[in-house]
Amino acid sequence: MTATRTCGRGLIVRDATIGDLEAIARVAEAAGQRGEWTGADPAYVGHLLRHGRVVVASDEGRAIGFGATRDIAGRGGATSMLCDLFVDPAQHGRGGGRALLAELWPDQGAPRMTFSSRHTHALPLYTSVGLHAWWPLLYLAGDPRAVRPPAGWTVTPSSPAAVSRFEAGWTGVDRSADQHAWARRPNGVALVAALDGQPLAAGTAAGEGDGFGLEHLASAPEIPDAQAGDSVLAVLAALESVADHARVCLPAPHPAVRPLLAAGWRATDLDLFMATRVDLLDARRCVPSPALA
Ligand SMILES: CC(C)(COP(=O)(O)OP(=O)(O)OC[C@H]1O[C@@H](n2cnc3c(N)ncnc32)[C@H](O)[C@@H]1OP(=O)(O)O)[C@@H](O)C(=O)NCCC(=O)NCCS
Repeated sequence: MTATRTCGRGLIVRDATIGDLEAIARVAEAAGQRGEWTGADPAYVGHLLRHGRVVVASDEGRAIGFGATRDIAGRGGATSMLCDLFVDPAQHGRGGGRALLAELWPDQGAPRMTFSSRHTHALPLYTSVGLHAWWPLLYLAGDPRAVRPPAGWTVTPSSPAAVSRFEAGWTGVDRSADQHAWARRPNGVALVAALDGQPLAAGTAAGEGDGFGLEHLASAPEIPDAQAGDSVLAVLAALESVADHARVCLPAPHPAVRPLLAAGWRATDLDLFMATRVDLLDARRCVPSPALA
């Protein structure tokens, strides 16, 4: 669907095309988003254009903001994830963020979620369109060698196709397009973690320099808390073969958080999980990508 919406205050919101990559990168950089797998990276925005919806807000032909959503469809239906919403700081507070969101989320009844930044405009905006703030998502970073591998676990390199099959079997959600995109990133590696030979978690690590880390890990739904925590620790410990520094985003209530902090890992930032329903993600289980969940 292609839409153009004229908003008050001279702003126009329309669907983005591949021709907007440069303008989107300019807005992203003005908003402090730089580097690989951000709005400044054509590979990331190209993935959203192919598999999600990207819109831009412009003023007299000049892009001043952009936003993107991606549907995550599983057994329980589709959830719309707001991946990005950025307005050029020089244009904040004139309605651009709300206009972009109105275009991306016209249906207020549908399940929706995002990881909100702590920017003072973000939480009130998302609250006003029906989302609630549920829990913090911690950006944790540290040395994989400091993580003690839990007993009985083995982690082996795999393929995005195999990882996607495990995830679809466990959760009913097909993330194969995202798994392939993550695996194509710098240092991208698909991994399967098994306890006593039985695969119980699968995901992908990727990223450049300080941005390298575990991007997304799915796990078997029946595992108890202790194993959910251990699966994350096992995968992070295994990343020592790739880098001496890694990151992962975890819900604050996730069972892996306390052992990671005890191992000297540090929280470098946090977002807030905001959603129309708390159960759209499981805070004790999920290891989500902050952009794509
Ligand atoms: C969050 C962001 C996208 C909102 O865009 P914006 O154009 O600044 O916001 P809008 O002008 O549409 O206002 C949206 C809401 O923010 C709040 N807001 C706006 N200006 C405000 C101000 N000066 N003081 C406090 N709150 C304000 C209001 O709740 C407003 O809703 P309203 O329609 O009732 O006035 C934008 O500020 C931004 O890019 N921030 C930095 C990047 C970021 O953190 N993005 C969120 C990623 S999850």
